[in-house]
Amino acid sequence: MPDTPSTPAPSTPAPGTPAPGTPAPGTPAPGTPIIDIRKLHKSYGTLEVLRGVDIRAGRGDVVALIGSSGSGKSTLLRCCNLLEDSQQGEIVFNGDPVRWRGTGHARQPADRAQVTKMRTNLSMVFQSFNLWAHMSVLQNVMEAPVTVLRQPREEVETRARALLAKVGIADKADVYPAQMSGGQQQRAAIARALCMEPMALLFDEPTSALDPELEQEVIRVIKALAAEGRTMLIVTHDMHLAADVANHVVFLHHGRIEEEGPPDAIFGAPQTARLKQFLRATEPA
Ligand SMILES: Nc1ncnc2c1ncn2[C@@H]1O[C@H](COP(=O)(O)OP(=O)(O)OP(=O)(O)O)[C@@H](O)[C@H]1O
Ligand SMILES: [Mg+2]
Repeated sequence: MPDTPSTPAPSTPAPGTPAPGTPAPGTPAPGTPIIDIRKLHKSYGTLEVLRGVDIRAGRGDVVALIGSSGSGKSTLLRCCNLLEDSQQGEIVFNGDPVRWRGTGHARQPADRAQVTKMRTNLSMVFQSFNLWAHMSVLQNVMEAPVTVLRQPREEVETRARALLAKVGIADKADVYPAQMSGGQQQRAAIARALCMEPMALLFDEPTSALDPELEQEVIRVIKALAAEGRTMLIVTHDMHLAADVANHVVFLHHGRIEEEGPPDAIFGAPQTARLKQFLRATEPA
């Protein structure tokens, strides 16, 4: 019997072929943060809302943003996925810095394709759910992957139904948002965000429009996502949620980071007078 090797002999790599294990061009080095915001400044007219903010979230990090009303938390999230323009500082997504044109108040992202790519990869969940009222829950979840990403409808539907099951509302696929409770609508909004298969999720006060018992349904879903190792930036007024799910907590005060650290330190041993005062004020009576 001829001595045939079971595997073909390795061919000589073409010149310039990367060695095995070398990332493809454009692939970020291991350890590159998913979200890396540096010295970000944002103002509305003369109102300075963000005054040099740095935020970093590596793969699997859950960063909670806390701070009093008007401190700039929502603005920061909206700048992060380019729903708002910022005037100075860098936003680097998975190693890819946002390219700008213009400066100061005239600064805008220069590359629409890059903006679309970033928005696709950073799905946002809003306080007020923002579901489309004229579409069923299933249609809401399927809409962006089908129309923006142009993925095949059958494939998206299978994924959408699985995600509705994951957030506990499989039986609501064919109803309209108005026929659901707030907690169910918010879970549908989370399924919709997940259906884009994003690299990170941004939550802006995901539970604050909900009654306490409905809040718990949503918190369970967010905790499960954190346990899966999803990268998330969560603005929340709920210090228990922040303490439970985040591995890093950022306290924003008047557009600056006043204090940040692991939840144990932030909630157990706050250092600055402002954070101490904020935590006292958020304690239930
Ligand atoms: N579109 C806008 N035009 C002008 N000013 C704005 C706009 N959006 C927000 N602001 C102002 O920017 C500041 C920060 O607002 P932002 O919504 O980021 O605060 P926040 O920390 O999310 O507060 P809250 O906890 O109440 O949601 C506030 O003074 C607000 O009035
Ligand atoms: Mg806000």
